[in-house]
Amino acid sequence: MRIFKEIKTIQNWCKEQKLQGKSIGLVPTMGYLHDGHLSLVREAKKHCDIVVVSIFVNPIQFGAGEDFEVYPRDFERDTGLLEEEKVDAVFAPSNNEMYNPDSSTFVEVTGEITGKLCGASRPGHFRGVTTVCTKLFNICLPDKAFFGQKDAQQVMVLEKMVRELNFPLDIIRVPIVREADGLAMSSRNVYLDPEARQQALILNEALSEAEEAIKNGERDTARLKNKLREIIASSPLAEIDYAEIYDAYDLADVEKADRKIIMALAVRFGKTRLIDNRLVEV
Ligand code: PAJ
Repeated sequence: MRIFKEIKTIQNWCKEQKLQGKSIGLVPTMGYLHDGHLSLVREAKKHCDIVVVSIFVNPIQFGAGEDFEVYPRDFERDTGLLEEEKVDAVFAPSNNEMYNPDSSTFVEVTGEITGKLCGASRPGHFRGVTTVCTKLFNICLPDKAFFGQKDAQQVMVLEKMVRELNFPLDIIRVPIVREADGLAMSSRNVYLDPEARQQALILNEALSEAEEAIKNGERDTARLKNKLREIIASSPLAEIDYAEIYDAYDLADVEKADRKIIMALAVRFGKTRLIDNRLVEV
């Protein structure tokens, strides 16, 4: 497995792979890898000849007062896991390599899709994500890039960017990987103490109950949102950031769950903010 730290070197290597007729799959990550990340890697191995995984904790997608400095990092362990998965190359640049001190170019998707949910609670976050992904696409030249449904709004925003800016690549969505008890895997789960870890199960439970209600004929999204909020509020440590239901394609408001919708949650347990979601089609 090759490990690259410099943009020019990996870009040239990727160009060579393409000249040899090989397809490239890119899995962008911020490291501290778990089975959710590895499911993206396995999917990429199925679709592409060469798999590149990037590990970069992207400073510009964190807001002031967020967890950039303390975001968990373990490069040795990550590269060990990727070696086992037979990944071809890892791209792990420094902050200076990715961003010149005078860097002032950003890629931004505007409108409802970035104005709601995490876009409302984390201003500038998606601009950071779309900018770094544009850079990663230009550096690694992927035919396909793999993203998890765990970060549902992120993948919707990136699909829109790729469509509207005509990037020559496909975005592939990979389903959410959960722990045995239902908690969606996340690098941030390590922040949870045992009590919060137990109470965090309420996210998946609330989504399952609301999904069940839809399957049983409930269509009123206001009542469904109340249901989600009531269930989550039954966990004393949970502080709801948002519990919303929108159109699954563009995050438009929906009064009735009569099309493909997304139920999206962000909930704080102390300082730890967890997200989860469920797509439901009637
Ligand atoms: P990170 O949080 O490390 O996640 C990297 C990728 O793994 C994302 O596409 C995310 O949706 C996916 N992922 C995380 N947990 C998952 C789970 N439980 N099941 C399935 N997929 C999961 O998302 C980012 O990094 C960054 O914003 C990035 C796209 C790398 C840009 O900096």
